Amino acid sequence: MIRPAVCLLLACLLAACAGLPQPASDDGLYRQLGGREGISAIVEEMLVRLVEDERIAHHFAQTDIIQLHERLVEQFCVEAGGPCTYRGLSMEDAHIGLDLTEADFNALVEDLVDAMEALEVPTRAQNRLLRRLAPMRPQIIHR
Ligand code: HEM
Repeated sequence: MIRPAVCLLLACLLAACAGLPQPASDDGLYRQLGGREGISAIVEEMLVRLVEDERIAHHFAQTDIIQLHERLVEQFCVEAGGPCTYRGLSMEDAHIGLDLTEADFNALVEDLVDAMEALEVPTRAQNRLLRRLAPMRPQIIHR
């Protein structure tokens, strides 16, 4: 009889070999970011920087920042494997008409990294979050 731990290991290896997505229960990044509280602090720090950032602040002039904070926390939480539901628009619908460029995207990422540095989020966790957000770029920037 195969022990449960061995079964789990085999299942993980098989999933990895088949290139299947990691199970939703992989909340390692969520925990590294400090759970919902940690993510909320990161998003707050990022938004403080965004609205002061001369390169991109104008995009947020008409935005309800409290609601944006809520949506971003939900989104980062989901991306990090946390127990959350994202209730916002698709990335395409949220950014359509804003005419965003690669430079805008890079500026936002820079502000996010600065926020995480200020909160002393471990580099590995920073990179894991950025890797989850990077594939959204084509839906966000105007081509
Ligand atoms: C990885 C990059 C990005 C992510 C993950 C992201 C995520 C989001 C999310 C979750 C929302 C809320 C959608 C909703 O209200 O339902 C949103 C809205 C918004 N985003 Fe982004 N975004 C990114 C890049 C950018 C960039 C580069 C800009 C501009 C410099 C930008 C400007 C905005 C604005 C202005 C809104 C609010 C639109 C409104 O007022 O309704 N975003 N974004």
